[in-house]
Amino acid sequence: MSKDLILQVQNLSKRFGGVAAVSGVNLDVQARETLAIIGPNGAGKTTFYNLLSGRMAPTTWQIHFEGRDITGLPAHTISRLGISRSFQINNIFTEMTVRENVEVAVTARRGEGRRWANLASANVPVQQEADALLSRLSLSHLSGRRAGVISYGDKRLVEIAVVLATRPELVLLDEPTAGMTPDETGQVVDLVKTLSQTGDYTFLITEHDMRVVFDLADRILVMHHGQTLVLDSPEAVRAHPEVRRAYLGDTDAELRDPS
Ligand SMILES: Nc1ncnc2c1ncn2[C@@H]1O[C@H](COP(=O)(O)OP(=O)(O)O)[C@@H](O)[C@H]1O
Ligand SMILES: [Mg+2]
Repeated sequence: MSKDLILQVQNLSKRFGGVAAVSGVNLDVQARETLAIIGPNGAGKTTFYNLLSGRMAPTTWQIHFEGRDITGLPAHTISRLGISRSFQINNIFTEMTVRENVEVAVTARRGEGRRWANLASANVPVQQEADALLSRLSLSHLSGRRAGVISYGDKRLVEIAVVLATRPELVLLDEPTAGMTPDETGQVVDLVKTLSQTGDYTFLITEHDMRVVFDLADRILVMHHGQTLVLDSPEAVRAHPEVRRAYLGDTDAELRDPS
């Protein structure tokens, strides 16, 4: 396996009763690339993440991360190995402050889980790390606010902060801009670009907004009915007739003219 191949997925499938949510997907991901995963609702994108992150057990599979077979490992082990994900639905603790949300993730990564119960007993290195991360993501102004009361867009940015607090190498973002205003979407795009330029991260991003996809992606995986329809460069995907067919409807125009 090439040194730069960070993730290797072979024949990955997941059935829910009669539904083949993910069906025979093969995918090689290069370290430090940004790969967008697109496809209509129900195409299997979220299920694919659930399988990669160990949240769901595949029906058939083989998943190698950095050359290691991670198939069937529990989610917390996969997270510790360096794959971390955001959720399509917000997944932060609304009663805690923004900084405490990040501290929980930092603490969990450091394997100091028992201190969760008592965040009030200040753990200075954890706080410093949380502050540094929030500052890096330009979210310091939200640090002391209760996560439940900040705007929807800010919640989703905080969720990305929580993901990064686990220090992943492979970041799975599930529709990170869904429901965001254009300004908030721009913030996410800038954030992913900036992080990507550091060379520290590999991104998988599912996304419905074609402008975001074409702005960020090095390659695009188009899923349809759980299968790979196309896996190619943005230019090739944009020109692909079947992709247009799969996207008939509101995104078709955007596919044609992503500017
Ligand atoms: N937990 C589940 N139980 C049963 N069916 C599911 C479950 N999760 C997803 N599915 C089904 O799997 C298919 C793929 O869904 P999903 O992965 O959420 O697609 P996407 O994220 O691309 O919209 C859909 O038909 C969906 O109804
Ligand atoms: Mg989904």
